[in-house]
Amino acid sequence: MQTIRGFRDILPEHIRLWQKVETLAYELFAAFDYREIRIPVLEKTQLFARSIGEATDIVEKEMYTFEDRNKEKLTLRPEATASICRAYIQHKLYASDPVRKFFMTGPMFRRERPQKGRYRQFYQIDAEVFGIASAFVDCELIFLLNELFTRLGLTCLTAHINSLGCPDCRPAFTQSLLGFLGEKKQDLCDICQRRMTKNPMRILDCKTQTCQEVLAGAPATVDHLCPACEDHFHTVKTTLQKQGVDFFIDKSLVRGLDYYTRTAWEIQTTALGAQSAVAGGGRYDGLVAELGGPDTPAIGFAIGFDRLVEVMEQLEQLPEEPGLDLFIVALEDPAMEMAYHLSCDLNQAGIRTGTDFRGKSLKALMKRADKRNARHVLIAGPSELKDKALILRNMVTREQTTIPMDQLVPALKKILQTT
Ligand code: HAM
Repeated sequence: MQTIRGFRDILPEHIRLWQKVETLAYELFAAFDYREIRIPVLEKTQLFARSIGEATDIVEKEMYTFEDRNKEKLTLRPEATASICRAYIQHKLYASDPVRKFFMTGPMFRRERPQKGRYRQFYQIDAEVFGIASAFVDCELIFLLNELFTRLGLTCLTAHINSLGCPDCRPAFTQSLLGFLGEKKQDLCDICQRRMTKNPMRILDCKTQTCQEVLAGAPATVDHLCPACEDHFHTVKTTLQKQGVDFFIDKSLVRGLDYYTRTAWEIQTTALGAQSAVAGGGRYDGLVAELGGPDTPAIGFAIGFDRLVEVMEQLEQLPEEPGLDLFIVALEDPAMEMAYHLSCDLNQAGIRTGTDFRGKSLKALMKRADKRNARHVLIAGPSELKDKALILRNMVTREQTTIPMDQLVPALKKILQTT
């Protein structure tokens, strides 16, 4: 049996970088006053279709959708924003306090063509802020991302920032785009030809070579902003500059989801070939109302956890797993029973203790202690049990101590918790 294409196991040997990122992210989210939320992996299909957009690649061709036994259409979540909005509305979180800052981490599912940095089950670290329209929140989120990546030592990443405007300035931009594409319609791919009537902005996100060529010189949203959007974008840029956060204004950045308004950004790398975005986010001031909630400005980002770890793997060694504090070499049965009880007592006290119940030889068990990187080895063979005194060997200094069996637990706790 093998995993499904695009799905993979992350083995204990590879988990340390994931844990390093998670620990740091949780620390930062706590400092920036974000609270953890957990959402289901399965939702009604309609939630994603309505929020991400019917004409997006995700909804058109990448969702894992199936009919439940009661004929209801369900989808494995391709992202977290829509579900977090649903939770905000469903539980009326806005009623007691409209300002909410959430984070979550977990698997997402998109049926894309698997390649390096692109999987069908992948993980995101997601943050969302509800209830604040100020551009300072846009800055806070970009600053938070920048801080996380800086602390991880990732200096090879660039923030690409754009403004996508709002419902007030979008129509003028769309007109200008349609005017530009007018005579070139036949050169667009079939999907984009359909998008011209359904959702022209999505054409800007098309990855096909021919469409990319047609789009050279296409109008940009930033050149059609209304005064309020212009002002908002100006604050974002000047504030980040004052803070010393490096960014690049990328007029062609449109993001692959329909809900964005105003600021949108991606953190990009050249280290992963075509999969250049390590994180992406933006403002989505209309989505909560669109899904049936009160008019609520909102903004967020998601980090592609798999991609982030892949970039880190290129730059650093996997952090070493901590070894055992103690390995009990238990030869034969009465010793094994003693080793079982002793290791449980020490594990309870937080001492990393291992043993082996396979009845292997002294040589094999010493080898195993070495493999598990044990700092101490306790030898419990028939003669030690007969003498009621066990030998503790410090594997670093090679010193040996004899410990009477009736004092084992307190003596070991004392030695192991201090050395
Ligand atoms: P997104 O750009 O679709 O945005 O995804 C965010 C990140 O997830 C990407 O930059 C990438 O690193 C990672 N990612 C996406 N697809 C894959 C894949 N197939 N394999 C590996 N990694 C992948 C969103 O999902 C929005 N919900 C972000 C957001 C939150 N906007 C506002 N709030």
